[in-house]
Amino acid sequence: MTQNAHVSGSYWIDTAPGRPRPALAEDLEVEVAVIGAGVAGLCTAFELARAGRRVAVLEAGQVAAGVTGHTSAKLTAQHTLIYDKLRRTRGPEGARLYARSQTEAIEHAAALVAELGIDCDWETRSAYTYVRDAGRVDEVRAEAAAAKEAGLPASFVTGTGLPFPVAGAVRVDGQAQFHPRKYLLALADAIEALGGRIFERTVVHGLDEGEPCRLSTGTGVSVRAADVVVATHYPIFDRALLFARLAPRRELVVAGPIAADRDVDGMYITPDEGTRSVRTAPLDGDPGRRLLIVTGEHFTPGTGDTRERFDRLTTWARTHFPGVEPVHTWATQDIDPTDTVPLVGPLHPGAKHTWVATGFGGWGLSGGMMAGLLLTAQITGRESAWSGLYDPRRLRSQVREAPQLLKTQAKVAGHFVGDRLKPAPPVDALPPGEGAVVRVDGHRVAVYRDEDGALHAVSPRCTHLGCLVDFNAAERAWECPCHGSRFATDGTVLEGPATKPLERRDI
Ligand SMILES: Cc1cc2nc3c(=O)[nH]c(=O)nc-3n(C[C@H](O)[C@H](O)[C@H](O)COP(=O)(O)OP(=O)(O)OC[C@H]3O[C@@H](n4cnc5c(N)ncnc54)[C@H](O)[C@@H]3O)c2cc1C
Ligand code: FES
Repeated sequence: MTQNAHVSGSYWIDTAPGRPRPALAEDLEVEVAVIGAGVAGLCTAFELARAGRRVAVLEAGQVAAGVTGHTSAKLTAQHTLIYDKLRRTRGPEGARLYARSQTEAIEHAAALVAELGIDCDWETRSAYTYVRDAGRVDEVRAEAAAAKEAGLPASFVTGTGLPFPVAGAVRVDGQAQFHPRKYLLALADAIEALGGRIFERTVVHGLDEGEPCRLSTGTGVSVRAADVVVATHYPIFDRALLFARLAPRRELVVAGPIAADRDVDGMYITPDEGTRSVRTAPLDGDPGRRLLIVTGEHFTPGTGDTRERFDRLTTWARTHFPGVEPVHTWATQDIDPTDTVPLVGPLHPGAKHTWVATGFGGWGLSGGMMAGLLLTAQITGRESAWSGLYDPRRLRSQVREAPQLLKTQAKVAGHFVGDRLKPAPPVDALPPGEGAVVRVDGHRVAVYRDEDGALHAVSPRCTHLGCLVDFNAAERAWECPCHGSRFATDGTVLEGPATKPLERRDI
């Protein structure tokens, strides 16, 4: 990610850099190939390796440095306001299965921490979803009741341990927080100790489904595997058009030290104010202080001014925690499924040996751990009580999600057409550090002016499905509002579903 005034980088990556792993240099044959080394891919690979499968993980960048390396790292089955909705849309049994599956995944991770002796700053905390607006208290009361009915240790409270009053909150006890990279780097070592292989800087481009499946990579080497798991966050292979049921949302994180005696008691989130989430973590090498981590803003990538959003979030942190000064700032994005429940299971209706884990809706740490357990059960031929709930094919027969699906598609269509009608500024008006889609000789071009005044031009047409990208000046990246693909100023892919760079343009 480009370093600049607004984005300094993830605390998790700074404090656990990890060791480099080789790129795949020659053809390979394994039982299971896992594409993507985020929490979903690594947990799946670990469980499969433990079950005796020969596994290879193919990662385009570095292990646990995608969304997983930029998260807030709360491990909880309390997912803001979800259970009241689930009991209405999936029935009480669906809500119970959701709570059980997320809880078992967290308990499984806690057991692994003990079994493998992983030092990952694991701390048990209560999780709170709070509102400050008295008009929303009934919503929170209903959520507390639904979460309790789903089997969670949930209650409605008005005291939270936050240094400001709230109108009401759902509190769920016995949840956890941790350092995601310390945990996952240890899991990566464990995969290798079990005979698994992990390759970094290995971009997968193509998939031929068959027996075995064949994956092709950017460097021309290929992998044959009986089963393939697509754990690339947004699925890079998508015969079932899952992208139409997934909406990207970007969020910002600011973090700074506070005195240990001013630590808050739990992990907090509110749907108010464009979401605000708060937790703390041990500050590396400084027992007298903790790191306050504040997350929020919640926006569609490629829309609006992200610098203003960073400023708003920083002001919020300073106002509610006087004296805190953010020293780490970063941003990342997750994917909201149209019906709230992640998509984990067969990649498409006819799939026999291809699998997917996506759509974690902002809760992919417990979700990714759950996916590891569920996909391993499915690939090794065991029954799982959770498979129906998370089955990606479920959506095909569901009329219930139609309104949200239409809303998501209308938004995409709005960007596809509307963004082409926006006025394009003249290229001369671009100050250093800024980018915009401008018009040159009647054609639209995405132009970035670097700090030295040099212009860098690429096609503004997203290589996924052709929406127009927009410039995020805070992170100096081109972002597509339709499904969230992101590109560096030279057009290189930073984040999918796009797999091809933006074409270079001469101006
Ligand atoms: C600001 C923010 C805070 C969050 N906080 C929490 C939280 O507190 N608790 C929680 O449970 N969840 C949280 N989440 C959600 C959670 O972080 C994500 O859902 C989760 O990390 C997603 O994991 P993943 O494995 O699917 O994706 P990733 O971690 O992005 O992993 C996918 C990997 O696939 C690789 N890849 C992509 N394309 C290719 C290719 N062609 N070839 C090879 N490799 C490829 C990528 O490089 C990447 O490393 C948060 C999300 C956000 C945005
Ligand atoms: S991400 Fe789908 S069109 Fe750009």
